[in-house]
Amino acid sequence: MILMNDFRAESAEVQAAMLQGVQRVLSSGWYVLGEEGRRFEQAWAARCGMAEGVGVGNGLDALEIGLRVLGIGPGDEVITTPMTAFATVLAVQRAGAIPVLADIDPRTGLLDPVSVKRCLSPRTRAVLLVHLYGQLHAPGEWQALCRTQGLYLLEDCAQSHLARWDGQSAGSFGEFGAYSFYPTKNLGAAGDAGMLVLHDPQMAERARCLRNYGQSERYHHPELGMNSRLDEMQAALLLARLPFLAHWTARRQAIAARYRAELQQSAVRLLAAPAQGQSESHVYHLFVIACAQRATLQAHLTAAGVQTLCHYPVPVHQQPPATDWPRDPAGLLHAERHAAQCLSLPCHPGLSDGEVERVIAAVNAFCG
Ligand SMILES: Cc1ncc(COP(=O)(O)O)c(C=O)c1O
Repeated sequence: MILMNDFRAESAEVQAAMLQGVQRVLSSGWYVLGEEGRRFEQAWAARCGMAEGVGVGNGLDALEIGLRVLGIGPGDEVITTPMTAFATVLAVQRAGAIPVLADIDPRTGLLDPVSVKRCLSPRTRAVLLVHLYGQLHAPGEWQALCRTQGLYLLEDCAQSHLARWDGQSAGSFGEFGAYSFYPTKNLGAAGDAGMLVLHDPQMAERARCLRNYGQSERYHHPELGMNSRLDEMQAALLLARLPFLAHWTARRQAIAARYRAELQQSAVRLLAAPAQGQSESHVYHLFVIACAQRATLQAHLTAAGVQTLCHYPVPVHQQPPATDWPRDPAGLLHAERHAAQCLSLPCHPGLSDGEVERVIAAVNAFCG
């Protein structure tokens, strides 16, 4: 079976680097909030072109802490997309605020600014972009919209490690970028991990306090926080994997280029290619196609030995806890159609050229 992800296919070089990291942590005898975490925070913030990185337990907590640091809470509305991992909206709810769902642009699956404008209200405090599938798109237009409306721009970067627009990194366009390092992400740990990247050292200090019970110094709690600390083992593993990330990203982009060039588009539709001159803006966390006969295509691919997944089969507003959440009064029809048709093909950096050819042949056999 050609899998969506296959960590066993990783090279001996990567595994050796990770083992060295594990060994370093065990020898140090220090397991939570230490030198490895600080080094990874600095390294990742630098890769994002940001002044501060605050390592946390996962991407969900990175988002919640970021919202709380900005004082976004009860009574406030945050406009975001229904086509995302549920964690995006769960973070808004957990901060005490209200997620307001705008529709997507069907060409990319990303938030549609026209729909966002229909969702504005006097309670709107922020627009939370999700760089879905690895796509960073037109951040300058979002900055302009938020500036005009007096809103914070926030970035969920769980799927967009190393994505750049005009050379500027995902996570650096708004108040914060929230990263997940869940194992399947483009940069993944061997467990849960996340990071908030910020411009402002004072906001970073507050985030450090919130991730550690709201503790400013040992046993002093100026506010109520949570336990969401990036542990030393995951930080060391991420530091070990970081030097390989650029190469992995280039491999994902090369696989995507072959899919774009060779997949027949009769029964399936490809999402839009990156904008002209912005080849770095898509890091292909997922390669997603759309197909009106998705269930039949998926069964055909499984029979041909190709695993696929749907990201995401049920949009946020159709999940039971979200049925009465506010949304675009014009409806969320593009998100609903996308949810019914989207299909993710294997696109991880460990795929061989032969496997990529087999995926293409299997999809084209369905189209033919
Ligand atoms: C878009 C998006 N946001 C947030 C998250 C949450 O990250 P984590 O699983 O690390 O909490 C994920 C991960 O699934 C994601 O894909």
